[in-house]
Parts: sequence; structure tokens; C-alpha cells
Amino acid sequence: MTTPQPPPKTGGGAVRDSFGDLPLLKQEGAGGWSNVAQANKPETINMKKQITVTVNGQAHTAEVEPRLLLVHLIRENLNMTGTHIGCDTSSCGACTILLDGKSVKSCTILAVQANGKSIATVEGMCAPGAPLSNLQEGFKENHGLHCGFCTPGMMMRATELLEMNPDPTEDEIRWGISGNLCRCTGYNNIVKAIQYASAKNRGVEPASTEPQFV
Ligand code: FES
Ligand code: FES
Repeated sequence: MTTPQPPPKTGGGAVRDSFGDLPLLKQEGAGGWSNVAQANKPETINMKKQITVTVNGQAHTAEVEPRLLLVHLIRENLNMTGTHIGCDTSSCGACTILLDGKSVKSCTILAVQANGKSIATVEGMCAPGAPLSNLQEGFKENHGLHCGFCTPGMMMRATELLEMNPDPTEDEIRWGISGNLCRCTGYNNIVKAIQYASAKNRGVEPASTEPQFV
């Protein structure tokens, strides 16, 4: 009885090479290994890249692995732990920062993708000893936080929201923060906090600082 032989490789299909059991996709005729295959190669994973990011106005250079998430760069390499990790799957928004002025969930971005870009985190909202920003004051005056875990991400998201729309309606605020989850407050006082900051930013007296407890 003859031993069964694997079918001949005819190009374009999945093949295996010497990297353990990792399936590597080779597109013959396309000039080499696909990006997926390259990313799976151990030597590529370990190859560090030098990146420079500007965080809250200060430039930082670091050697990072290509797989390092931006949130880990911020928290572990730069020791700025105000940016939180709630889910690591882009669901909760606790890791929200501003990247070149746009709010993004930093658990879904690679650190190397931020190379050369400007980052704002909650630590940059006001200097130590300086008065609170209007947004921070709004959260304080309106009891916009309980445990505070969601708060840094919520405030970074609200920062962009108010830049895009300085006088949002309640519905626009609720829609704007719908990607940021809070397990404590019931959101009412977060909405009031953002309304408070909106009013103060525009030089208007905030309507009310009566917190609602739910
Ligand atoms: S930790 Fe990034 S969205 Fe939850
Ligand atoms: S204040 Fe606790 S999760 Fe929002």
C-alpha cells in the first residue's frame, strides 16, 4: 500500500513553513509573503521600531514592538495611568484619548500608528496646581462620576464633542458619548457636566448644578 502524498502546490493557496504550526499565506506571483504571514513571523514580531509621539505637548521617543497597543505605550512606557483599560476590545471607551485632535479608543490602535502624531490624555487637561478646566469643574459640580473609572475617557470624548459642537443639545451629548460606557452614574449627571462645560466655554452661566441621583 502506498503512503498518501499531499497534493502538489499549484500556487495561491495556504502553505506551511518552518514556523511551527502557523499557517502562512503565500501568494505566488504576487512577489512574496502576505502581510498576515509577515506579521506572524516571530522575528518580525520582536523587531522593535523607534517612534516619537507628542503627548500633552511633550515629545517622547520609544523603541516599541509593532504589536504594542497605543494604550499600553501610554500607560506602561510613558507611565500615564489616567487613561484606563476597561475591556481591551473597543467596547467601553475607558481608553479614549485624542489623536491629532480626534477622539479614539487607544486599545484599538497600534503604538506605531501614532508615530509622529500628537496625543492628548486626561493628564493634560490642567497643569498640577492650576484651576480645573471647565469640563473637570462640570464633572465635579454635577457629580458626573462615582467610581471615576470611565471619567478620563468620558472627558476626552466630551472635549472633542464640544470642539465640534460648542452648544450641543442633550440628545447630541447622549449620542456623542454613546461609545463610552459608565456603570455607575446612569449618565444624567455626565450629560449635565458636559452642558455645564459647554455653557462656561461660551461665557454663559450654567443653567443648574443640581445633580440627579439615580
Ligand atoms: S479599553 Fe478600549 S474601549 Fe474598552
Ligand atoms: S463613574 Fe464608575 S464607571 Fe462611570
